[in-house]
Amino acid sequence: MRKIYVSISLILCLGISVLNAQERIPEVEELLKKMTLEEKIGQLNLLTPGGAVATGSVVSKNVEDKIKAGNVGGLFGVSGPEKIRIAQEYAVNDTRLGIPLLIGSDVIHGYKTTFPIPLGTASSWDMDMIKHAAEIAAKEATADGINWNFSPMVDIARDPRWGRIAEGAGEDPYLGSQIAKAMVEGYQGTDLTQPQTMLATVKHFALYGASEAGRDYNTTDMSRIKMYNEYLPPYKAAIDAGVASVMSSFNDIDGIPASGNKWLLTDLLRDQWNFKGFVVSDYTSVNEMIAHGLGDLQAVSALALNAGLDMDMVGEGFLTTLKKSVDEGKVSEEDITTACRRILEAKHKLGLFEDAYRYSDESRPETDILTQENRDFAREVAAHSFVLLKKQDNILPLKKNAKIALIGPLGDSRNNMLGTWAPTGDPTLSVSVLEGLKNVAPDANIVFSKGANVSNDTAFAKKINVFGERIEISKEAPEVLLKTALTQAKNADIIVAAIGEASEMTGEAASRTELTIPESQKQLLRELVRTGKPVVAVLFSGRPLNISEEMEMPINILQVWHPGVEAGNAIADVLFGNYTPSGKLTASWPRSVGQIPVYYSMKNTGRPSSSVDFEKFKSDYLDSPNTPLLPFGHGLSYTEFSYSNVKASAKTLNLGGNLTISATIKNTGNFDGEEVVQLYLHDMVRSITPPMKELKSFQKIMLKKGESKTVTFEISEDDLKFYNSQLEFVAEPGEFEFFVGGSSDIKASGTFVLE
Ligand code: BGC
Repeated sequence: MRKIYVSISLILCLGISVLNAQERIPEVEELLKKMTLEEKIGQLNLLTPGGAVATGSVVSKNVEDKIKAGNVGGLFGVSGPEKIRIAQEYAVNDTRLGIPLLIGSDVIHGYKTTFPIPLGTASSWDMDMIKHAAEIAAKEATADGINWNFSPMVDIARDPRWGRIAEGAGEDPYLGSQIAKAMVEGYQGTDLTQPQTMLATVKHFALYGASEAGRDYNTTDMSRIKMYNEYLPPYKAAIDAGVASVMSSFNDIDGIPASGNKWLLTDLLRDQWNFKGFVVSDYTSVNEMIAHGLGDLQAVSALALNAGLDMDMVGEGFLTTLKKSVDEGKVSEEDITTACRRILEAKHKLGLFEDAYRYSDESRPETDILTQENRDFAREVAAHSFVLLKKQDNILPLKKNAKIALIGPLGDSRNNMLGTWAPTGDPTLSVSVLEGLKNVAPDANIVFSKGANVSNDTAFAKKINVFGERIEISKEAPEVLLKTALTQAKNADIIVAAIGEASEMTGEAASRTELTIPESQKQLLRELVRTGKPVVAVLFSGRPLNISEEMEMPINILQVWHPGVEAGNAIADVLFGNYTPSGKLTASWPRSVGQIPVYYSMKNTGRPSSSVDFEKFKSDYLDSPNTPLLPFGHGLSYTEFSYSNVKASAKTLNLGGNLTISATIKNTGNFDGEEVVQLYLHDMVRSITPPMKELKSFQKIMLKKGESKTVTFEISEDDLKFYNSQLEFVAEPGEFEFFVGGSSDIKASGTFVLE
């Protein structure tokens, strides 16, 4: 067995990308020839022996026996080099052909070193940082035996009711694509046989973020034009970056759930996009097609396999029905061989045939996981992810010897710092806000008081607390909590209010119909403001919130998402000015739930709103402006930036040529700081109605106080392309407006013509 694979590793060492060249791998083909139908079907099953988050109704039983019987292609929810060595031994020593296992995991925002939730990390707009965070996640996860990651999640989300908006990059296809690429490259590196790299999975394919009404697992319905132009680009970017696997989503598309959707998994993914890796279902999503109404387990399993799904997560529909379907002519053995080949090729990519124990190095956890270096980097990423939503009275940054009343249910809570989908992290190792303030400003006089519960609703708290006590309802009455807090607040120079969503208020199966801060905390904040003391609200959430009331208050608001293991230290770094905030929103914040979806790249309509006031027979609301409360790209700094001299290098751009758009940015304030300079274009006339603005490029720059820099963006015909009614990717001649600024809410600076 071993000898056969030596030559494969040599080929890989020479850097020849065998799979991309669409060539068959001789050793995989040899192996396939030896395999029985049952053995091939065995490879198509991904089981979890428990230990993972069981998000579906089924969990795997008798996993050890199933591995030994050759019925398992991969496992997830198991970690640690020793345990994984044992699992691999069952597969290698106890099955006829000794095929090693894929070992998967949800390493969504860091492994043990938990980074901010992805929506937060995206707000850094720093691709090098995002890539390096993925590299660290891969290094830690592989040290613990994992060789396959169920990340990145790249679903475009424009509905903050949907809790899983926390797991992605927000609303924009261009930014989402850049992040997808950075994450895939970070996880996979350039050579997957290196033991610090792992297979990445782009998920959830496709359109999961467009679930109707923001309710999780709900139906989606979308035109092809919208799909191609707005929702598919990040998946495609991951595939172009060489992602090894794709996870199908739970939702249905055109009446067929993604896991059984042949148009999606074969016509689009394989035939149009030329994807060569393997497709895994989401957790029991094959079985769920029974509830969707498409037949019994045999029927839905055959539907999935015939659609192009290669691996069945947990449900065992493939394991228990595919042989029968072959016998009955409902599935061909050739299609099973194809699916099996793709899984074997992934194992081959990892070098598992050469060494099944490549990820079972028992010395690595000690040296590679949760190192001080990794924690320091997580702290940096968190500080870069924070978005200063509002500033007031030049209170920030705080003085390091200030008398501070830290008030709020999230002020001394380690439990809520990691955020959703951090099953590999350990909340007890995270730094609370209180600890962080004390670490960074040991000379400050800091008192803490809870002031309010995250929510006073015990039934709601019970739903949130499934993975541990995220909402802790105090034994003290709300009035008592408030009174104690107000006494402390009145004696302080500054109030820091740590409020917002508990971590499990977002994420999977955490949709909300109201997006306000829970009432218990709103009341607390109102009372704190009433003291007349300066207030800095440190706002936690996994989604855009409706903070219309808070935006009217005379307070500062620093949005910190759920910042990860170094939460408190990073928050303190920013509050005390060790780092000047530079994050920018990657999803619009609504004024009300009624406005949703609200996103910056909307279309003009035939009756565009002429102002923020209501006008009869225009595309307006009676009771709200059309604009969001906080636009995509928004984020303030302790310093100020001015934009001038925004210009294009030419009036015309010839097809096949290029031009540049440049702007001078000056730091006119009192602090050094970073700015995300954003370029938007508006295609003014074209064959399908264009968005009013589309992000086309951005650069994050550092400016010392008083310093100016000229930023230049190069534009070519390719940047102007879109999918037309025939779904051809084209640029059409005509006039384009350009916009350069620090937010999407900016006026055009000029035009150029494509001809
Ligand atoms: C989620 C996926 C995740 C899978 C395995 C599902 O419920 O939708 O994102 O990768 O569980 O844990």
